[in-house]
Amino acid sequence: MIPESTIADIKNRLDIEEVVADFVSLKRKGQNLWACCPFHNEKTPSFSVSPAKGFYKCFGCGRGGDAIDFVMEIEKLNYLEALRYLAKKYGIEIKEEELSEGELRAQSERESLYIALNFAKDYFRQNLLTTAEGKNIGQSYFKEREVADEIADKFALGYAQDQWDGLLKAAQAAGHTVEILEKAGLVIPKDERHYDRFRGRVIFPIHNVSGRVVAFGARALKKDDKPKYINSPETPVYQKSQVLYGLYQAKQAIRQQENCYLVEGYTDVTRLHQIGIENVVASSGTSLTTGQVQLVGRFSKQLTVLYDGDVAGLQASLRGIDIILANGLDVKVVLFPEGHDPDSYARAVGANEFKVFLTDNARDFIHFRLDLVKEQVGKDPLKKAAAIKDVVASIAQIPDHVKRLVYVKEASEILEMEERVLVGEMNKVLLKARQTPPAASEVPPLPATVAPAEEEITGTFDINNLIAFQERESIRLLLQYGFDKLAEGKPLYEFLFHELDDVVFTNPVHAEILREYKTLLGSGKVADAQYFIDHGSPEVRKAVIDIVHTRHQISNNWLDKYKIAIPVESDSYRLQKVVYSNIMRLKQRVVRKLLADNLEKIKAAADTAEQAELQMVHRALKQAEKEIAAHLGNVILK
Ligand code: CTP
Ligand code: MN
Repeated sequence: MIPESTIADIKNRLDIEEVVADFVSLKRKGQNLWACCPFHNEKTPSFSVSPAKGFYKCFGCGRGGDAIDFVMEIEKLNYLEALRYLAKKYGIEIKEEELSEGELRAQSERESLYIALNFAKDYFRQNLLTTAEGKNIGQSYFKEREVADEIADKFALGYAQDQWDGLLKAAQAAGHTVEILEKAGLVIPKDERHYDRFRGRVIFPIHNVSGRVVAFGARALKKDDKPKYINSPETPVYQKSQVLYGLYQAKQAIRQQENCYLVEGYTDVTRLHQIGIENVVASSGTSLTTGQVQLVGRFSKQLTVLYDGDVAGLQASLRGIDIILANGLDVKVVLFPEGHDPDSYARAVGANEFKVFLTDNARDFIHFRLDLVKEQVGKDPLKKAAAIKDVVASIAQIPDHVKRLVYVKEASEILEMEERVLVGEMNKVLLKARQTPPAASEVPPLPATVAPAEEEITGTFDINNLIAFQERESIRLLLQYGFDKLAEGKPLYEFLFHELDDVVFTNPVHAEILREYKTLLGSGKVADAQYFIDHGSPEVRKAVIDIVHTRHQISNNWLDKYKIAIPVESDSYRLQKVVYSNIMRLKQRVVRKLLADNLEKIKAAADTAEQAELQMVHRALKQAEKEIAAHLGNVILK
């Protein structure tokens, strides 16, 4: 428990600008500071910080809150952990209040583990720096491997002396219980006694993303000591699949460089830092997990894999990279000369040549794969077919369908194969994947009252009108209910902006109202209908007056004809459904318009090549339409 007075101190002291600036670079524009949002992928800044009000707000993804919220969100911490983070940042001492026994038991196991692990880290570090064995053996080892002192310091590298219970004794003397030390993976039980897990090895502490030590890797000193590394087991605070070595030390640089290098070993990470490349993490020799990729994805959407295996192992390793694609990141690869890993190669050629090597050899992952396949063309036709399937399966992992299509097109050019064949192959993979339902948390809430399917409406109606209608509905909801809370407690505007992120309003007046609404929000003003009627341009005023008054003027005929549902909004839950279905309808109509336009183009296409290309667009749009329809609860029977 943190005393109330300390919480007040922290809140008084903190400055949202300083807190956020640790994670993104902010640029001043007007009263606010702006950046590309650290929580979602975007190219133009819609993330704003208001120092005066102490809030941040992203108009793209809808996230917002105060400095504490920001720390919780970006560091994935709970409230108390965020306060501790901020206290540390501002040098405010926390005198934790006495806990009741129940509280103590509930909250302290994780905390005790962290404290014990931190003790161990300090202990190993001190061993390296001050004991005779640490100096003679540990320091000599690092010297021989050319690890600079600053780097050893930055990564808190240490040394475990060759004793059975050095750490155990020291930790017990400092008040840590054997139970906690065992749970932390630091000591191992044997015949009613315990002994140190790490002995006579150099120590690489593993930090989680917010900088707490959660595990250790311990390297043997001599070539024939087996195993080469002894690592901490999984513990309540260490799940291997959720941690990347070096991310804590790298995250700032990853943001700045908009790229993250992925290597295999601890020593590759420390080496790259030493030659000035700080945006690097290690998978610690195992294959990447979704959790790890998503972790990196918070900092950059580009990952460059530095592959140091031999060519024989290449195909298998490449498959592991699919998980990066599946999480929506762009992937490049760099192959190292055989016999070298990044550490040894950097030592061999020096910092400058190494950096040039990286830039010269980084290749887009899919292109790289396609070239590999091409090499096999003249050789073994069976192998070739399998290899093509492999690449197409990789492409199928990419969630963005436009990107998928671009790659398929390139694949057909490079492999000199018909696009249609590749698309067919890809669809097979996609279909298979679709049979596994998404996790419950990924399924958005469905509208309560679902209007009848619109499939039977054909060519006769004007889709532009329908789109404009749905745009107007969005604006009406914004103006009338923008600050009303939806079921999850978020204001309606947040939800709407988040959902409309990829929709561009076609009607210029609607677009203008939306823009203005966002600007007002950014400067903390409430934008309602009255505001626009008082301050808007003549067109905007007219439109707004129209929008807030039209509901009862639309002829029932027209509504019936086009199956437009005008729902009654009342409580927050209902309102949410209304907004959601409105958005989906808007998207549905935009997609249908694109479909209709594309169909025209297909008819007018000059040659079969162009036609094939447009057919692909058609299929992609159809797919999007299907997905939207599924969200709406409509079923398309065709
Ligand atoms: N690794 C492991 N256990 C092993 C071997 C490897 O946990 N027995 C993990 C370690 O995280 C190691 C990574 O796999 O850093 C890569 O292995 P390797 O390339 O063999 O080790 P390096 O880190 O390159 O070590 P060194 O350069 O000291 O040989
Ligand atoms: Mn190595």
